[in-house]
Amino acid sequence: MTLTHPLDAPADPFEVAQTAAADIARLTGVDHHDIAVTLGSGWGKAAELIGETVAEFPATEVTGFSRPAVEGHVGTIRSLRTASGQAVLIIGARTHYYEAHGVRRVVHSVRTAAATGAKTMVLTNGAGGIRETWKPGTPVLISDHINLTADSPLEGATFIDLTDLYSQRLREVARSVDPSLDEGVYVQFRGPHYETPAEVQMAKAIGGHIVGMSTALEAIAAREAGMEVLGFSLITNPAAGISPTPLSHQEVIDAGRAAEPVISDLLARVIGQL
Ligand code: HPA
Repeated sequence: MTLTHPLDAPADPFEVAQTAAADIARLTGVDHHDIAVTLGSGWGKAAELIGETVAEFPATEVTGFSRPAVEGHVGTIRSLRTASGQAVLIIGARTHYYEAHGVRRVVHSVRTAAATGAKTMVLTNGAGGIRETWKPGTPVLISDHINLTADSPLEGATFIDLTDLYSQRLREVARSVDPSLDEGVYVQFRGPHYETPAEVQMAKAIGGHIVGMSTALEAIAAREAGMEVLGFSLITNPAAGISPTPLSHQEVIDAGRAAEPVISDLLARVIGQL
């Protein structure tokens, strides 16, 4: 017996995203969302502050969504209504590239968000910091990325411009909420191992400031779908070799938990301005 997944070829991933969006409309009673937010490690509590929960359900009830693989990643999807009346889709279920299920599954949530009508995609993650001034718990804006996965969510001759991928306009909105927000270039490695100190030095030499295992592929898919992207990293640890202590997944989770109230409040206030 072969196990198949709804996104496996020859399925059209955009049709599967349309089906998933119809599932979300049925489960939430909301037929159009304005903004979508993917919550990475450390950002999980933000949903409560963004708006009133209209509906919440396990992501696995939506066509094409896989079970979350990592502790610290919540496997739920929520529909919220903000004070100003915007419908926000909260995606607490991320499929990582390192799970090796293919890029289609990694970007399915983004394509589904676009199919629900969302024009803005907010991508958040927990990541390692290359800049020594960034202490664990510092949120930073993503200004651009370097995709070191050697992969793409685009299939065939789909040429998409990635200039201003992480919207300057949205970064300015975020800075109007918190003028102290720093920004940097996010480097997506495949993972799931953390980087070696030499790889972190390479990331720095090629213009990177943040290292992580998500986001870049999702941002590309969001741009392909015509969405405006806002990216946030929570610096959970100094990247390997930047500080003498070895990295641990527990440290990443703990830093996320400690920073949660502050970054949740920040994210909610930024979304309130979108
Ligand atoms: N590297 C890659 N991914 C991460 C890190 C890191 O240092 N911290 C949290 N996610």
